[in-house]
Amino acid sequence: MSVVAVIGAQWGDEGKGKIVDLLAERAKAVVRFSGGDNAGHTVINPYGEFRLHLVPSGIFHPGVVCIIGNGVAINPAVLLGEIDDLKKHGVDTSHLFISDRAHIIMPYHILLDGLEEERRGRGALGTTRKGIGPVFADKIARLGIRTCDLLDKEAFQSRLSSVLEFKNAILTKVYDAPPLSLKEIYQQYCHYGESLAPFIRDTGSILQEIMSRRETVLLEGAQGTMLDPDFGTYPYVTSSSPLAAGGSIGSGVSFRQIAHIIGVFKAYTTRVGGGPMPTELKDEIGELIRERAHEYGATTGRPRRCGWFDAVAGRFSIQINGFNSIALTRLDILDTLPSIKICTGYKLDGETLDQFPSNVAILHRCQPVYEELPGWQTSTNNIHDSKQLPSQAHQYIARLEELLSCPVNIISVGAKREQTIMVRQVV
Ligand code: IMP
Repeated sequence: MSVVAVIGAQWGDEGKGKIVDLLAERAKAVVRFSGGDNAGHTVINPYGEFRLHLVPSGIFHPGVVCIIGNGVAINPAVLLGEIDDLKKHGVDTSHLFISDRAHIIMPYHILLDGLEEERRGRGALGTTRKGIGPVFADKIARLGIRTCDLLDKEAFQSRLSSVLEFKNAILTKVYDAPPLSLKEIYQQYCHYGESLAPFIRDTGSILQEIMSRRETVLLEGAQGTMLDPDFGTYPYVTSSSPLAAGGSIGSGVSFRQIAHIIGVFKAYTTRVGGGPMPTELKDEIGELIRERAHEYGATTGRPRRCGWFDAVAGRFSIQINGFNSIALTRLDILDTLPSIKICTGYKLDGETLDQFPSNVAILHRCQPVYEELPGWQTSTNNIHDSKQLPSQAHQYIARLEELLSCPVNIISVGAKREQTIMVRQVV
């Protein structure tokens, strides 16, 4: 198999990091293709426990080429800190490469992300305040600064000086904030450029060469499908595409080469930040899920909103990504519940919708229609073979497969690599 994409199928935090870490064993390359350090991929393995924000989750496998693709926005201080931390834990980072086309998060992006959120007041989106919206806006507005720009100091100074003039006008005239110093940013980012230079490459060519040998490349998604700027709950979305199609644009791999797409779904739903979430549980069951699963943002520490599995959003996610397989994570979190609900439709003004609405004002008014299944009330943490799962867990998974018309090929029942049930081999 050549290219396999691992995609967040809900609102992010589905556990993609663990799945990628696991599958990377059989891959030659792992590529992050979107987002930035708004992502937080938790990986627990023999090296320790890590929250990776930018480095691909394949980094723990020494023979695997790890690429931060052109579609990722890089905060150099965060990336350099992450590389240092990995090195301190004995992880080899010499197989890490950064695309020369990736955009750089600048201090004004972070400042403006915060100022824009404050301006929105009660309508704030609940962004991670990492500068993501402003950096991707600049990319499209052709005001961005890329990794390749840091390698040519003279050209960088002239580009930065023209962009900063504009940004300072916004900071001072719109937000009444102090201007930023060209000299300080220039010196700081030249320094980052020197530190990152050994990693910066034309990563598209590295991937083409690997693919020409028919070796496996994993595309590691960040965030989740329902946060996509086109198909997610706009405007409560992120600013780059977490979809399988985004995997092609954000890495330089043709979409025709993506042979298999794995949708990672949690066995329930979580969301962090603002925006509608029809199956949110604001009761003791939501609280129980949050505490059992420690559902707090890996990047911001914010409590995640928890709720039942939403098969309406799930079907939409399958439709726009074209998943071949599902990796169902955190099944064990449901172990103690006497009964479990699945949302199979939305009710709006007495009518049942079975399509996911485009307008958040409509989505806010939708009431979930639930189907209730019996729980299994026994631990699944140490199960390695799907045949050993309790019959009620089989029933739950089979119903999800039926509702989503897609096979569940991987089941995760704990954070460790070995707490995984490979129902069918996917890579
Ligand atoms: P931004 O990506 O920081 O601009 O935030 C936009 C929205 O996406 C907010 O609701 C964030 O909470 C959400 N978001 C961004 N990154 C992640 C993630 O990795 N997991 C879950 N939600 C995220």
